[in-house]
Amino acid sequence: MIEFQNIHKAFGRNKILKGISCTIPTGSVTVILGPSGSGKTTLLRSLNFLDKADCGKIILDDLSIDVERASNKDIHKIRQRIAMVFQMYNLFKNKTAFENVTEGLIIVKKMLKPEAKQRALFFLDKVGLGNKAAAYPHELSGGQQQRVGIARALALNPDVILFDEPTSALDPELVGEVLEVMKQVAREVNCTLIIVTHEINFAREVADNIIFMDNGLIVEQGIPQEILHNPQQERTRQFLARYTSFTEYNI
Ligand SMILES: Nc1ncnc2c1ncn2[C@@H]1O[C@H](COP(=O)(O)OP(=O)(O)OP(=O)(O)O)[C@@H](O)[C@H]1O
Ligand SMILES: [Mg+2]
Repeated sequence: MIEFQNIHKAFGRNKILKGISCTIPTGSVTVILGPSGSGKTTLLRSLNFLDKADCGKIILDDLSIDVERASNKDIHKIRQRIAMVFQMYNLFKNKTAFENVTEGLIIVKKMLKPEAKQRALFFLDKVGLGNKAAAYPHELSGGQQQRVGIARALALNPDVILFDEPTSALDPELVGEVLEVMKQVAREVNCTLIIVTHEINFAREVADNIIFMDNGLIVEQGIPQEILHNPQQERTRQFLARYTSFTEYNI
């Protein structure tokens, strides 16, 4: 279980997160929706302390961290359990797909090379890139690079994977292959997934829970059926109305 308790974060005078509280069950898929600037990325980054929140509590199973008092040891522990998939893939350009996956296993997880190698090949295969292990990022499409990013996250065997708009940098024709791999991950892998995306159809299909954020707060949350088809808050309705045209076009 992940729990955010009253998380606040400001950048200078700008209050970005204004008291976020929510509980995300283990093994569930949570999609975070919300307009640009509402604090979605900041919330994800505060979970693994890429951005340190100003106050509040973050709980990951047995690990309970008061962010104001978080020690380096706490931060290290939480990062060991969380992997992240970024919008811009963040692959090492001078390393092959295979090396991009093994790097974290050998350096962060201290895995021996033969085991890391086997694991990397297994997960590259899982995302449909078994035959691209030796390719460098510039030899891969955006969708393939993002799938390497997903294999890299999976190989770390994290409790939680955070996805921050994993398809929004892709050409439209490449979005589908990445969403398919994410659907498969959601079905087969037992870790908790928190996904920031604007892909409403994907959210409808895959999410156990949807959180709608606006202006640094959670406006409402619930199952897709409730949030997407019967939103209670005007701000949610307005947001969804903007995306409906894209959504229908994408089907
Ligand atoms: N490192 C930073 N320094 C200063 N301001 C920041 C920083 N990171 C984010 N912000 C500000 O915080 C606000 C929320 O940003 P955030 O990236 O969390 O929004 P978002 O909901 O992810 O938006 P988008 O959908 O555009 O990705 C924005 O106004 C942004 O300019
Ligand atoms: Mg963002």
